[in-house]
Amino acid sequence: MKLRFFKKIIKEPSLNLHRINRYSMNIRPRRNRKSIAIRAMVEETKIGSEHLIYPIFLKDGKNIKEEISSLPNNFRWSIDQLIPEVEKCMELGIMTYDLFPAVEEHLKDKTATYSYADENFYLHAIRTLKETFPEIVLMSDVALDPYSSDGHDGLVGLDGRILNDETLPILNKMSIAQAQAGIDIIGPSDMMDGRVGSIREALDLNGYTDVSIMSYTAKYASAFYGPFRDALNSAPKSGDKKTYQMNPANKREALIEAELDFLEGADMMMVKPALCYLDIIQLLKDNFNIPITAYNVSGECAMVYAAAEKGWLNYDLAISEMLLSMRRAGADAILTYFAKDFATLLKK
Ligand code: PBG
Repeated sequence: MKLRFFKKIIKEPSLNLHRINRYSMNIRPRRNRKSIAIRAMVEETKIGSEHLIYPIFLKDGKNIKEEISSLPNNFRWSIDQLIPEVEKCMELGIMTYDLFPAVEEHLKDKTATYSYADENFYLHAIRTLKETFPEIVLMSDVALDPYSSDGHDGLVGLDGRILNDETLPILNKMSIAQAQAGIDIIGPSDMMDGRVGSIREALDLNGYTDVSIMSYTAKYASAFYGPFRDALNSAPKSGDKKTYQMNPANKREALIEAELDFLEGADMMMVKPALCYLDIIQLLKDNFNIPITAYNVSGECAMVYAAAEKGWLNYDLAISEMLLSMRRAGADAILTYFAKDFATLLKK
């Protein structure tokens, strides 16, 4: 659209300073910003606690609330400590939680067997939370990394390569175990080809047709996962994740991943990270008619915590603007470590 109204410039040879070079403007955008009420009336993007998903780190044991040094104000919780915390968050309106297990090293192996073992504390925690809060929505992470002695999301072959098709049955087992425990939404974060279809089929064959899949559709090989890997001690023991996570330089490729996930039966799609990838959120939103979520990852949150701690940023304003921008780009829901703080702000 051309801004034609700027053409009409009146040069008035007046001595009155206020009238010199006055433009004749029939459109003045500032009129729609002139009061709090008018600004609220024309606000295009809304964000509420119903849009938030809170990522939570779990640890086996009792009486544990360990702060994650690279992610201040976020903790590894034992389930007994977590329950009162979740209760507080639910009172703030946060209904959905994404759970991640911090597994002890001696329980990790190459094939991630602990991920679907009966005694897995993560599966027990899912059960306890669902029993305690029947209205809660629980989401899981499906990938080998928290359980893998190699620290990779897929099975590592003898030559160091990540084996795609051999990984799928493990992801299936993990998903079924989580479904059995009562999970509402499975979150495959591993980026193996074909995993959404494989997991969907495994769930359906076992009678879990109501369990949803929120696929990590466009998950990029990002520098912003550092604090998360600290929290779970899950960094790759060798190599990097670039043969399965996407190249940050690529945008059209996200459409291929999205089309596959959609056709394989994903109920919702995720873009991860969020802040550097707002264009990808918008792209998927414009091209697919299922909900799109944004994962505001650990490193993105850590940057704000650090700057706010130094007094370089206003924390409340910064997190509000960040989360709003993700909704504006098209995210229906947002996974964020700011969930509790932001929900608290919304209540004020
Ligand atoms: C594991 C997984 C990761 C994150 C979510 N699931 C780390 C990774 O892929 O290395 C990162 C989340 C965050 O940084 O907050 N597959």
